[in-house]
Amino acid sequence: MSERIYIGVAWPYAEGSLHIGNIAGANLPADIFARYHRAKGNEVLMVSGSDQHGTPITLKAEQAGKTPNEIIDFYQAEFIEVWKKLGITWDFYTGTHTENHTKVAQDIFLKLLEKGYLYKDTVAQMYCPKCQRFLPDRYVEGKCPLCGAEGARGDQCDACGKPLNATELKDPYCRICKTTPALKNSEHFFLKLSAFQERLEKWAEEQKQWRPNVYGFTHRYLKEGLRDRAITRDIEWGVPVPVKGFENKRLYVWFEAVIGYLSASKEWAEKSGDKDKWKPFWEPGVKSYYFLAKDNIPFHTLIWPAMLMGYEGLALPHDVPANEFLTIEGKKISRSRNWAVYVPDYLSRYDPDPLRYILSINMPETNDSDFSWREFVRRNNDELVATYGNLVNRVLTFTYRNYDGKVPESGALDDADKKIVADADICLEKVGESIAKCYFKQAIQAAMALAAQANRYLDEKAPWKKIKEDKQAAATSLYTAINVISRLKTMLCPFLPFSSQKVHEYLGFDGKVEDAGWKPQPVPAGQKLKEPKPLFTKLDEKIIEEETKRIGT
Ligand code: MF3
Ligand code: ZN
Repeated sequence: MSERIYIGVAWPYAEGSLHIGNIAGANLPADIFARYHRAKGNEVLMVSGSDQHGTPITLKAEQAGKTPNEIIDFYQAEFIEVWKKLGITWDFYTGTHTENHTKVAQDIFLKLLEKGYLYKDTVAQMYCPKCQRFLPDRYVEGKCPLCGAEGARGDQCDACGKPLNATELKDPYCRICKTTPALKNSEHFFLKLSAFQERLEKWAEEQKQWRPNVYGFTHRYLKEGLRDRAITRDIEWGVPVPVKGFENKRLYVWFEAVIGYLSASKEWAEKSGDKDKWKPFWEPGVKSYYFLAKDNIPFHTLIWPAMLMGYEGLALPHDVPANEFLTIEGKKISRSRNWAVYVPDYLSRYDPDPLRYILSINMPETNDSDFSWREFVRRNNDELVATYGNLVNRVLTFTYRNYDGKVPESGALDDADKKIVADADICLEKVGESIAKCYFKQAIQAAMALAAQANRYLDEKAPWKKIKEDKQAAATSLYTAINVISRLKTMLCPFLPFSSQKVHEYLGFDGKVEDAGWKPQPVPAGQKLKEPKPLFTKLDEKIIEEETKRIGT
């Protein structure tokens, strides 16, 4: 029976190029999951968009001497290009700076207000007398009260890592004009998170499918007791607050960004020509999955669920498979220090599948994991080229040349032949089960182990030698290997979609590899093969140094 699966993926800020940490943290696991469920025949809606509001965007615009609109348009185009080249298969990708999102976000705001979950309060805030404006946290700098470092930001000190409030900074100054700011009162709306404490506790307790880190994080926050949060800001860029007297304020970026999950679904439906099409994906009971990195956990396991509970009638997150962080060459990714590998840059020199491969087999699922160019080259050469690529290449090339470009007729299968095909069938099942549970690393490891097993099988059968004395026996093992390869291209398709499509075609199949479903696709004797080419490219060790030098400069 086909299931309905909603997949929401963290919205990247439209303030800089995507780096491989974004991909490993959220986009890739989500895409693997979506591709698997689509192949399974389930109805999938995978949505996301760019987070186009908030101070990261306005700061970037100010630094670049551009308008926020120019910044978000630039990155929207770049992100969409990356998704296409990397094979991230959104059902819909949008942004938060749209009319539709404004409408949906304001509707949720007003509903929560009407139900008494929002209230007004006065807060003292940093105000720059010279710029005549309230300063968002990141616009105030000063000395860190903890380590004394100069240039600490109002949200955090980069030197010692301490999270800060702008009011805690010593000798604060306005980032733009360097004037000393003063405190000034301002009225804001607060989300009454405290009102959801018990409901959230009860609900979170029941979510046994959550990963231990997600469960742990959430319970720690709950134990501390949820505090109400200001959800409006004194800024000009963002979703207007739909209340009289608040014309100069905007919704806080986190409050409205999570609403994107719903607004994107509605926009998708609207554009598909059936404006109610989103509804079946949001009915309570639908399995919705949210993919994100660990710093986003509380927004998805507490704040968004509280908003949904307050709004009523929509599905709460079923699973929130948050990933840990990806480090690069042993260090934390940092845009400001340029300690990152940017995806457009990667894609200008290399193929998408090797990146998808290394980020899958080394996914920061339960622990932080590290990306290094040395590991990248090693895994590409030893695993993709020498194990999987070599298997496909030697079997298909040899068969193509010696059996007239067709799958040969098999003789009676011996135990070894039967075992490898049976193992491949079991493996396909297992890989599917692992993906369904969001154990992606385990899934791809199992698939690669099958490829290694198939290589050993072939080494024993050695059809390239056998063909001289017993052409039928050689044909039987090639026929068997071809059928194992067919299972492999299916189970690897969510991870390595581009090479799986190629294998699908080399095996003589038409259409899209995913349309063949999540089941063995036997290759019959006599099927015409397409002339195979090497699946992957061996990388020269010298790129390790070249690429490593690019990081941090
Ligand atoms: N833009 C945020 C980040 O990069 C993530 C927002 S996720 C959303 O950390 F759900 F709020 F959209
Ligand atoms: Zn100023």
